[in-house]
Order: sequence, then C-alpha cells, then structure tokens
Amino acid sequence: MIYLKTPEEISKTADACRLVSQTLGEVAKWMTPGVTTNKLDSIAREFIRDNGGQPACLGYGGFPATLCIEVNETVVHGFPSNYALREGDIVGIDTVVELDGFNGDMCYTFPIGEIAPEVMALCQTTKESLYRGISACREGKRIGDISNAVQTYCESRGYGVVREMCGHGIGRKMHEDPEIPNYGRRGTGPVIKNGMCLCIEPMINMGSKNIVISEDGWQCRTKDRKPSAHYEHTVAIHGGKTEILTTFDYIQEVLGDRFI
Ligand code: MF3
Ligand code: CO
Repeated sequence: MIYLKTPEEISKTADACRLVSQTLGEVAKWMTPGVTTNKLDSIAREFIRDNGGQPACLGYGGFPATLCIEVNETVVHGFPSNYALREGDIVGIDTVVELDGFNGDMCYTFPIGEIAPEVMALCQTTKESLYRGISACREGKRIGDISNAVQTYCESRGYGVVREMCGHGIGRKMHEDPEIPNYGRRGTGPVIKNGMCLCIEPMINMGSKNIVISEDGWQCRTKDRKPSAHYEHTVAIHGGKTEILTTFDYIQEVLGDRFI
C-alpha cells in the first residue's frame, strides 16, 4: 500500500530530512583516523535529540544503534563498535531521523584520509548512480526506471549491484511501499505519482554482487570482502517535480576538497 502524502506531510518529511542532513554534517567533523565508530554513534544520537528529533534506527526491529556504520566490506546495517577509523577506509554512515512524526533517511560514504584510486572510483560511481536514479524518478514514470538507471550505470563499469537490499518509500514509517530495487527493467513496477516520498539508495560492490548476512540478521558484508559503497537521498514528488529533500551540503562544508 503506497501512501501519497499531502503538501503538509511532505513539508514535515522535508523538516526531518533537513535534520538528518545536519546530523551527518555533524558526524562529518569526526570522520578522521582514530575515532571509534561508537563515538560517531553517540555524537549523532545527542545531536538528533538536542534538535528535537528521535534517532529512528535505535530500537527499530531490535537495531542497537543510531547509526548504521559501513566500514569497507560492510554493505549495510553495520553496528557501531570500538573499531577506530583508519586511513584508507571508506565508511558509510546511514541513519534515519524522526521529527514531528515523519522520517528522513540518508547515507553518505566518507573517505578516511587518502583512499586508493580504485576505491575512490567506486564511491564516485555509486554517488553518480544515485543522481542518475533520481533523474529517472519523474512523475508518470515507473519505479523500474529508477532501478534500471542505477543498474546499467554501475554494471557497465564492472561493479556488483547488491540484490538483497532495496530503497523504499518513507513517511510516518521509515520503510513504506514501494520497494525500490537497484536493478530492474524500464517501464516496470509502480507508477511514480505526486505525493510519493522515496528513498533511493544504491549499494554497489567493487567485486561481485554477493553478500553475507551475519547471524544477528543485520550486518551485511560483501562475500568476497572487497569494498562496498552506499549513498542515499530522500526525495519527494510534488507539483510534477522531484525534489531532493536531504542534502550533502552540510557534509561538503566540513569535508571541503575531500568531498566525494
Ligand atoms: N537506510 C537504511 C534502510 O533503509 C536505514 C536502516 S535503519 C535500521 O534500511 F534501523 F533499520 F537499521
Ligand atoms: Co533507507
């Protein structure tokens, strides 16, 4: 069941998206070698609460933290730990903020210090595929058009497109219909309509598309242990236009010329 949002509901979703974007901007200040991923998690939790929001991942289906932290071969849903960031790592930070009953969801994969050129290329391709997916996300088109745009861009460059995890609708709940796979055929799937709020989130592997899920049922890593990248925006379709509600601008302000 796809819930189409009223302009007021989209505006509340946009407020949640602003706060989640600012939260990742705050976390960006700490993305340096030696910082533990537990520390990043507490920075984010406090920032969200200080600004009137709720960390929506914390306790969601038993998820133990505010941030999903994706170090190198971790694809999604990694737990914070006492691991300290190292030069050359790539670290995806994925989180959801609830504000006044509505949710905003985003992810950005950070480089820690200097990263290998091929890892940089993986990140750049994944981020570009997100924007290609967003460009394909137009009123009157179909969800499969988004999926196909991401898949063809990444696979033509030799990367593995994760199959098991998808983007999704968002609103009062973090995960709503429709599912948005990162692979699929043009002209298939639900029609994109005004009032939809959608999370588009390519998860792209340097090597094969295969992943392994840990026994806790959450943490996913690549089967071949090569790195994986993940970028995500929440968008709204209204007035016939697609608006990106989250922004990487706060991250860019902090990273300067290290911004991917
Ligand atoms: N963007 C992630 C997703 O859509 C956020 C997950 S939060 C968690 O799956 F609590 F489910 F981990
Ligand atoms: Co999401």
